[in-house]
Amino acid sequence: MNTTISGFSKLSKSEKIDWIIATHFNNDSSAKTTLTQYWNSDEKLQKLHDEFIENTVSNYYLPFAVAPNFKINGKSYTIPMAIEESSVVAAASKAAKFWLNRGGFKAEILGTTKIGQVHFMYYGNAEELTNFFNTVKPKLLEDTKSITKNMEKRGGGILDIELRDKTQNINGYYQLHATFETLDAMGANFINSCLEQFAKTFKNEAENTLNDSVSVVMSILSNYVPECLVRAEVSCPVVDLSDDPSIDSKEFAEKFIQAVNIAEIEPYRAVTHNKGVMNGIDAVILATGNDFRAVEAGVHAYASKDGIYSSLTHASIENDIFKFWIEIPLALGTVGGLTSLHPLVKLALEMLYKPTAKELMQIVAVAGLAQNFAALRSLTTTGIQQGHMKMHIMNILNQFEANEAEKKLVLEQFKDQAISHSAVVEAIEKLRIKN
Ligand code: MEV
Repeated sequence: MNTTISGFSKLSKSEKIDWIIATHFNNDSSAKTTLTQYWNSDEKLQKLHDEFIENTVSNYYLPFAVAPNFKINGKSYTIPMAIEESSVVAAASKAAKFWLNRGGFKAEILGTTKIGQVHFMYYGNAEELTNFFNTVKPKLLEDTKSITKNMEKRGGGILDIELRDKTQNINGYYQLHATFETLDAMGANFINSCLEQFAKTFKNEAENTLNDSVSVVMSILSNYVPECLVRAEVSCPVVDLSDDPSIDSKEFAEKFIQAVNIAEIEPYRAVTHNKGVMNGIDAVILATGNDFRAVEAGVHAYASKDGIYSSLTHASIENDIFKFWIEIPLALGTVGGLTSLHPLVKLALEMLYKPTAKELMQIVAVAGLAQNFAALRSLTTTGIQQGHMKMHIMNILNQFEANEAEKKLVLEQFKDQAISHSAVVEAIEKLRIKN
């Protein structure tokens, strides 16, 4: 079967589906039903989603949930989360409630600077290039005025442009390394537009001034934003750290810190530890219409900033006070992009009291810290599977298409029995034999 096609994007939505069904599903109409059953009956809403990307044939649902009881800098939040993993929202809610009774979360912004670069090659005299850059710099700024005008009115814009010599790494390689303040916008379009204008002006001016030519390789923002940084923290007296009579507070605090220390020095553990942090972060990033790929890339680069991939969170005990904190780079937007287009994203932002980008950075960092706290609490006490399987049992029941009565009986049976995939399957099968 030939499954290549030219002009696919020009087909209508239903022609696209017909082609997929014919080429990949042997014209099986049930595949078509699977795709079309997720269409929204509100045609306007469906069209909106169709037009977010190209070649849309269906909608991909993720659960949209909320984790209540977060207290951040004294203010109460119900945090929206879009995620498929069963235990994440439950864990976040549990951690929120736990810290609600211990003063809540404190969060602060450490910086908001974003970065973009024009990468170019130049094989001439380095000093001549530096002199040229210093002369042309005001014109680089001048030529972007039409792009920066509105951003500047609101207090943002281009902060600086530097010439960086990278010829030690690659012969002839230089950068225009620019810093930006994009306020409540994530800023990708703004930064990229500025950079492309820098590149144009720089190249044109170089042609008239320099003896050797400048060849621009590319102009693009960086998703590594170590100066767009937020810190979130919780703390309480060590004696208050356990709310379970079977868990000793001091022992728990010490084990918790050991777990964090392990993630700080052991990359195999750090990756999983940080994955747990990202469970919370990505879920809020998605629910608020932000770019989780950009955040993921930037956060993991930050986790490796000291030359070894390490934990994003840290913990200490000082003067009998337990402290647990996170410091992460987050380039987020609360205006532009999907924020005013996607109805659920709009609702999510409204639920967070229409935050500024700085406030959203704090909320997201808190979600990551809470998630990591919940994971480490389970891992260092009961083990992760107890909570995980409790939430996962519903997925197993649904896999076996259990009806409501079967679900009720199986859930009842596993209330105080160890949950494993095979035990749940066995229970369903036994029920079905009986009936
Ligand atoms: C699972 O999604 C996340 C955890 O593995 C995180 C961790 O190990 O810290 C539980």
